[in-house]
Amino acid sequence: MARFSDDFLFGVATAAYQIEGGHDLDGKGESVWDRFSHTPGKVDRGETGDVAVDHYHRWPEDLDLMKGLGMQAYRFSVAWTRMFPNGDSKREQRGFDFYDRLIDGMLERNLKPFPTLFHWDLPQALQDLGGWENRETALRFGEFAGAFAEHFGDRVSAIATINEPWVFAWLGHALGYHAPGLTSQDAAIRASHHTVLAHNLAYRAIKAVKPDLPVGMALSQSLPDVDDIFDPAQLQAAKMFDVNQNTFWMDAFMKGKYPELATEVYGSALAEVMREGDLQTETLDWIGINYYFNTRIGPKVSMEDPARVRVIDKLLGFGNDSNPVGELTDMNWPITPPGLSGLLMRWTREYGDALPPLYITENGLANDTELSSDGKVHDQKRIDYLNLHLLEVAKAIEAGVDVRGYFLWSFLDNFEWAVGYAKRFGIVHVNYETQVRTPKDSAYFYSQVAATKGANL
Ligand code: NOJ
Repeated sequence: MARFSDDFLFGVATAAYQIEGGHDLDGKGESVWDRFSHTPGKVDRGETGDVAVDHYHRWPEDLDLMKGLGMQAYRFSVAWTRMFPNGDSKREQRGFDFYDRLIDGMLERNLKPFPTLFHWDLPQALQDLGGWENRETALRFGEFAGAFAEHFGDRVSAIATINEPWVFAWLGHALGYHAPGLTSQDAAIRASHHTVLAHNLAYRAIKAVKPDLPVGMALSQSLPDVDDIFDPAQLQAAKMFDVNQNTFWMDAFMKGKYPELATEVYGSALAEVMREGDLQTETLDWIGINYYFNTRIGPKVSMEDPARVRVIDKLLGFGNDSNPVGELTDMNWPITPPGLSGLLMRWTREYGDALPPLYITENGLANDTELSSDGKVHDQKRIDYLNLHLLEVAKAIEAGVDVRGYFLWSFLDNFEWAVGYAKRFGIVHVNYETQVRTPKDSAYFYSQVAATKGANL
């Protein structure tokens, strides 16, 4: 029984810094992740994206593999610093040429291109001027988006402006765990607001040249699971977690205002960077949800994902979190499939007709399964994870949610940011010494999902 409609898209996702390599080739400028990964102590084992999985050279082979697996769409990101090395108006033609070849390569193979314009690799030159804390970055991003759409707009299916604003705003500015490595809560608040402004500016800039091109954003979302619903402190922490992580962006775009609790708690850091007209509605033609797990909120201070919880600690002055329960992934993330349908149904209920169509722009798990003696990779745990989450998507659609596609994270094993190459998210195994690609069992499973529209789930 097909569980998804004929036009539901099954695809895979990657991001430029995590797979391309070629960090200084063909005029590419330095990004904050180049700088951060080259700074000792920032990334496990000192790993960097300098070479990554060499997709910069191996993209034809990678696209062939994707097509061979029957993928229908490909969510990838473009490196701003390849096209505008310093984040200003000076273009680097060779960067445009690379993405011309890549996008044309997708079209030749019937893969619908879903580019993301910003997946965390900010030009270092803009960071030197204050980066996302500076309003100027949002303006530059708007211009970049317009230039991208003008050149590539006729050949791509949809554009995502920014990937996971929460993650780089908070992990990069409050917790120092991601580039640019700052540790100021106010910096994270300023950056958060500027991601909203940057998206709105980019939306207008893209629409000015390609009015029909669907523009969206990919948001990382996680629901709080409260241990004791009769504990007011836990409920309050859950509320703050939800505002910090989810509704700050959802309300900004759906209601044109931030949640009251955000305005209250973020105080002057937020008020000082906001200007009249920054917040707008109707600037999302679709919303992408990146879903991995729900976050447990409890009475104990011990870490599930330290990054997430420490933010709440700082905001509220107490440590509400608890250990994740059950089987964990290699990231020590819990496996909580119902959170995915929970989110999809929640937004549909909460925003009603104002809610645009949804895509799952990321979902997947880290699991280090190596090649067996038969030359295959038997990653049953990933298959189980995908199976459960895809069923939740189907369930939400059945309940009336408008979901148009699912992009699995990730196509290839790749550079997992601060934890480097050890955490493998791919459905295609990469031997980092030889760069040999081997589709895992999950790749064949997912290929069947795409071919049968979920009949094998
Ligand atoms: C979110 C990010 O968008 C992606 O870059 C990352 O690799 C995955 N989630 C897994 O952590």
